[in-house]
Amino acid sequence: MKKILVTGGLGFIGSHICVSLIEQNYSICIIDSLINSEEDNLLSIKKICNLSNNFPKDRITFFKGDIKDKRFLMNIFEKAVDEQKPIEAVIHLAGLKSVNESIEEPLTYWETNVVGTINLLEAMQNYNCKNIVFSSSATIYKPILNELVTENSDLGPISPYGTTKLTIEKILEDLSKSQQNDLKIINLRYFNPVGAHFSGLLGENPKGRPNNLFPILLKVASGEYEKLSIFGADWPTRDGTCIRDYIHVMDLAEAHISALNFILNSSSIFINLNIGTGNGKSVLEVVETFKKVNKCQFEYSYVSRRNGDIPYLVADNRLALSTLHWRPQRNLNDMCIDAWRWKIRSKSKFT
Ligand code: UD1
Repeated sequence: MKKILVTGGLGFIGSHICVSLIEQNYSICIIDSLINSEEDNLLSIKKICNLSNNFPKDRITFFKGDIKDKRFLMNIFEKAVDEQKPIEAVIHLAGLKSVNESIEEPLTYWETNVVGTINLLEAMQNYNCKNIVFSSSATIYKPILNELVTENSDLGPISPYGTTKLTIEKILEDLSKSQQNDLKIINLRYFNPVGAHFSGLLGENPKGRPNNLFPILLKVASGEYEKLSIFGADWPTRDGTCIRDYIHVMDLAEAHISALNFILNSSSIFINLNIGTGNGKSVLEVVETFKKVNKCQFEYSYVSRRNGDIPYLVADNRLALSTLHWRPQRNLNDMCIDAWRWKIRSKSKFT
């Protein structure tokens, strides 16, 4: 059973990936600082995967710590080697991800995201770990109205958060060129991950006040917030609201498994892949779908455009489909139903 290190493995996306990894018979080692996640997610992962008290302990291990701490990372790799179960690959998600916060505190973002990744890459190099799937973002693209973005579209992140993601991609590219031998690297450029695990046991629960559409929508639908503010009704789109490529978090998790299987079975590679559905939905379409499939009512109003927003960002995902033999299976109805199931189940826990 191959051992995979998942950095940020208890966060929204990481926890769903961990479920998929266990289901695919990998043994996982999770590291997470818990800055933006809950240790409870570890219990939920075990529950979903039916890991009772008697399961072999190395199926899933968790270490609380920060990627800024190089010694901590080295120790994780060292321990795995000592136990004769070296880490074969890393799925690297740990990092800070708020666009607004990154504008306020750029140094914190550069230190955590970029320096943290360099620490991780040094530890990998030290312990001869050659495989990495990196969690990148569509926020690195310079968007063009009504055109799908391909992996070769122009790049131009507008926030420090986006710049750190692009910088990490560049570091990985340099590394792949410098070590021509057998480094295997996939950058997955996520579009808008939403939804939750079907069980309702895992989902998105950002600490503090949420900024993204789905977590806000859930708070409005559950009555925690009075109404939804839609940022702009005058965008040059079919209904005047912004269009995004929402992807179910379990489809995203499955893309990671396909990417991992791909690199574990290939020789040296460096590749960027768009992970989206290729299908854009407007804010209004999301709101109407959510109300319809979940049979709930709530108010919304239009307010002025949010700073830094763009009207349209949708993936051309053909390269990912053909390379990974992966295909998103879930539609917007599923994303809304699963997110709402998670909200209802978790409400008593978090309020
Ligand atoms: C945001 C980040 C992006 C990150 C992504 C993660 C910004 C500018 N970009 O993208 O870097 O990778 O989240 O999923 O923050 N909306 C409303 N009302 C709200 C909240 C959102 O109308 O209360 C609209 C936004 O204007 C946007 C859409 O909903 O058109 C989606 O917003 P959001 O979920 O924040 O995602 P992005 O802005 O696409």
